[in-house]
Amino acid sequence: MSALSSRPLERVVRGMPTSDGAGVKLRRVIGQPQLPDLDPFLMLDEFGTERAADYIAGFPEHPHRGFETVTYMLDGRMRHRDNHGNEGVLVPGSVQWMTAGRGLVHSEMPEQEHGRMRGFQLWLNLPARDKMTPPKYQEFPPERIPRATPAPGVSVKVIAGQVAGVSGPIQQPATDPTYLDVALEPGAQFTQALPSDYAAFLYVFEGSLAVGEEARPVQSQELAVLGEGAEVRLRGVSAGADGPGARAILVAGRPLREPVARYGPFVMNTRAELQQAFEDYQAGRF
Ligand code: CO
Repeated sequence: MSALSSRPLERVVRGMPTSDGAGVKLRRVIGQPQLPDLDPFLMLDEFGTERAADYIAGFPEHPHRGFETVTYMLDGRMRHRDNHGNEGVLVPGSVQWMTAGRGLVHSEMPEQEHGRMRGFQLWLNLPARDKMTPPKYQEFPPERIPRATPAPGVSVKVIAGQVAGVSGPIQQPATDPTYLDVALEPGAQFTQALPSDYAAFLYVFEGSLAVGEEARPVQSQELAVLGEGAEVRLRGVSAGADGPGARAILVAGRPLREPVARYGPFVMNTRAELQQAFEDYQAGRF
């Protein structure tokens, strides 16, 4: 047993089915009425379907300003292209960390006509001082995402943060994010230290697992908001249909505690800055 305080399970939220882009079906977990945001996280979408009709229309050209988008592909292939000359294909297990900063216009389109498409897009806010930074992409193929095995029956892909001496490739000093893909066999236990006052959540996407001393397991497609505490304790409960254990993303970050003015793909601090974003976009200044 550790002497550190374990983060309690504060509440459980289920995603809301919606569609975005040109009609892509997805579940919005953060950024919907039950959980409008979780500072510094503005949105979490899970997309997961075998039906091409649910994703084939993709996300044609659209702008972003003032925050970062993190796309983590589990299955399927997606091509992105923007108005600054960047282009690439996200493959299963890859991560794209895009800093929209002062603005870009991009498209995210499926690079397949059938088969399963599954993954997450997380929106991470930028502090006021960084909102107008030049846009930037960081793209990591699956082999660049290191894996840690901190305990028996536990396997962790470290996208950002540190687990058992293994560091993820992403650095973002402002929000200092941790982003882990955790796989837990039934009964296996995983403990992760996190700064006590950071926002933290868990989203289970296969099987089920328990948080701390909580009796009710968190089920697949449930998000658990974690309360304050120095560490997170997880225990695998049941396996999903797709693997030997439970799988979840565990995400944490430093809250910005700044005013948020948001409209669609623009996230600023004031209404005047939002208005400016519209004007700049319409004048082709992205
Ligand atoms: Co986008």
